[in-house]
Amino acid sequence: MTRSLGVCYYPEHWPEAVWAEDARRMVAAGLRLVRIGEFAWSRLEPEPGRLTFDWLDRAVATLAAAGLGVVLGTPTATPPRWMADRHPDMFALDRNGRQRRFGSRRHYCFSHPGYRHECARIVEALARRYGTHPAIVAWQTDNEYGCHDTTLSYSPAARSAFRDWLAQRYQSVAALNRDWGNIFWSMEYSAFDQIDLPQMTVTEPNPAHVMAHRRFASDEVVRFNRLQVEIIRRHSAAPILHNYMGRITDFDHFAVGADLDIAAWDSYPLGFLSDRLEAGPTHKTRFLRQGDPDFQAFHHDLYRAVGRGRWWVMEQQPGPVNWAPWNPAPLPGMVRLWTWEAFAHGAETVAYFRWRQVPFGQEAMHAGLLRPDHAPAAGLAEVAVVARELAEAPEAGTAPADAAIVFDYASAWAWETQPQGRDFDYFRLVFAFYRGLRRLGLNIDVLPPDTADLAAWPLVLVPGLATISPPLAVALAGHRGQAVIGPRSNSKTCGFAIPHPLPPGLAGLDAVVALVESLPPGVSVPLAGGGAFVHWRERLEGAAEVALRCADGSPAALRSGGLTYLGGWPDDAGMDRVLAAACADAGIATCPMPEGVRLRDTPDHRFVFNYSPEPATFDGLSLPPAAVLRLPRHASLSAR
Ligand code: GAL
Repeated sequence: MTRSLGVCYYPEHWPEAVWAEDARRMVAAGLRLVRIGEFAWSRLEPEPGRLTFDWLDRAVATLAAAGLGVVLGTPTATPPRWMADRHPDMFALDRNGRQRRFGSRRHYCFSHPGYRHECARIVEALARRYGTHPAIVAWQTDNEYGCHDTTLSYSPAARSAFRDWLAQRYQSVAALNRDWGNIFWSMEYSAFDQIDLPQMTVTEPNPAHVMAHRRFASDEVVRFNRLQVEIIRRHSAAPILHNYMGRITDFDHFAVGADLDIAAWDSYPLGFLSDRLEAGPTHKTRFLRQGDPDFQAFHHDLYRAVGRGRWWVMEQQPGPVNWAPWNPAPLPGMVRLWTWEAFAHGAETVAYFRWRQVPFGQEAMHAGLLRPDHAPAAGLAEVAVVARELAEAPEAGTAPADAAIVFDYASAWAWETQPQGRDFDYFRLVFAFYRGLRRLGLNIDVLPPDTADLAAWPLVLVPGLATISPPLAVALAGHRGQAVIGPRSNSKTCGFAIPHPLPPGLAGLDAVVALVESLPPGVSVPLAGGGAFVHWRERLEGAAEVALRCADGSPAALRSGGLTYLGGWPDDAGMDRVLAAACADAGIATCPMPEGVRLRDTPDHRFVFNYSPEPATFDGLSLPPAAVLRLPRHASLSAR
């Protein structure tokens, strides 16, 4: 697969007279793909049933004539105003029963049958018209499912769909009562239609009820997406993708991705650093103009797994965004670095958001590759550099990783439902392990929670996985490498009860979590030999060998063969120790990285990236800020 560059374009925002010149300039900058259409419903169907696709025909023709491939988005994230008159109850309701309103985007409830019908209608019309158009190289469904907190809805439509979903899943109310433990506080039901959505209760609702609702809501996203996919596939052989977001865990992306051909995501490194990362002010200031050194890489690896190997960046930040608390400009060179980093992790395409900064609307302050006056913005020159460099390294691909980390959306819901300590956030926990591996210079694969074959990875990490699935349990039991499991892994049944026997319940490991405690900020449990547990600590019992102790002598990790259970959330120093020991046991050579410098290998090359704001040195090579080095694989480097 060849690497390519693209851009997001909104022909409906600009006079038709500029389209051809825009297309010509895109091609001149080295862009090959253009995504259009995903918010254009009000121009595609200005009144119910009056389809006006003529302008889109001309836009596609103009872009294609310039040599661009078109990714066509379905417009279902922005239902037009008339839709609200037709379906006044199509909006999601929030947890407090307040209705969301028209006036921005994503204003729909996934469960509303009338809105789903409208979506099917517009997607059918688009797919019929453009399904075999030679310029259409891919389809995008909707836009960023779940963004703006839109997965969960407490609407009447959602309630009735939830009841149907429960009836399907449990078959009998007695089974549901048993599974949820509804004898507690006299919460037993005698019919499915007595069950409400878990909201506005006096104190916390039953966590099993909340988890069922989370699973249902995720399934509704899958169902909504599948409806579009099935229609498009009837008319088109082009691949279908969705553009996911960063750090959104409200629905199971693996389940949505199973229906798609490619996973794409929208990478806004500076927005994410400011808005979506737990980090102190020193870190945020230091990486203000570069982004966090691991956040993008984590999502690249995650979405490579969601796409079963095929993934893109659909929207790459090209300059300041408008939506984070603070919106600085990238350091010169960072647009190029972010692009190369995606390619180093196996991206087939990186597309920039957006072609030209738009002077009106909510995103008027968001940079594009062009300024609003059509002059080039700072990012464009960097894109042109990457385009030239791609000629020398055109092939997409990734090298096999030594370490794998399991990521599970249901575990994110589990620990939101019952954090037990305010800081116990699943993404944060997994990301802490991921960062630790990156500090050691490793390539990492992300694995879905039902992975049944671990043979490819000498080291597998399973932090905070609420329920270990039967296939993964079997794979772990037969794994010949090292596995580090915990904290909190396998501590819930599917019905959200504490399992019997007590966790971790791993075949071949005589270990029991006898007690758990969460720790407030500033409190830690020191480990013997350095580092500490923060946020979370478990008391471990059992006859397995003690692999690590707390400073008070109690076991911090128990092991048997290649299986280690870790009873706490390590701080950075503790993490480095735990992971270095696991790598040594797994026979993986590590390469401790200078701060802000990161590695990633492809089959042919080793890439080195400098995220730090100062020059760095790595293996005798000097790296200015924002440097990208592309070295032949296994060159003079000491690492592996
Ligand atoms: C993305 C979204 C785009 C645009 C962009 C601005 O989340 O998909 O439509 O809003 O953010 O950064």
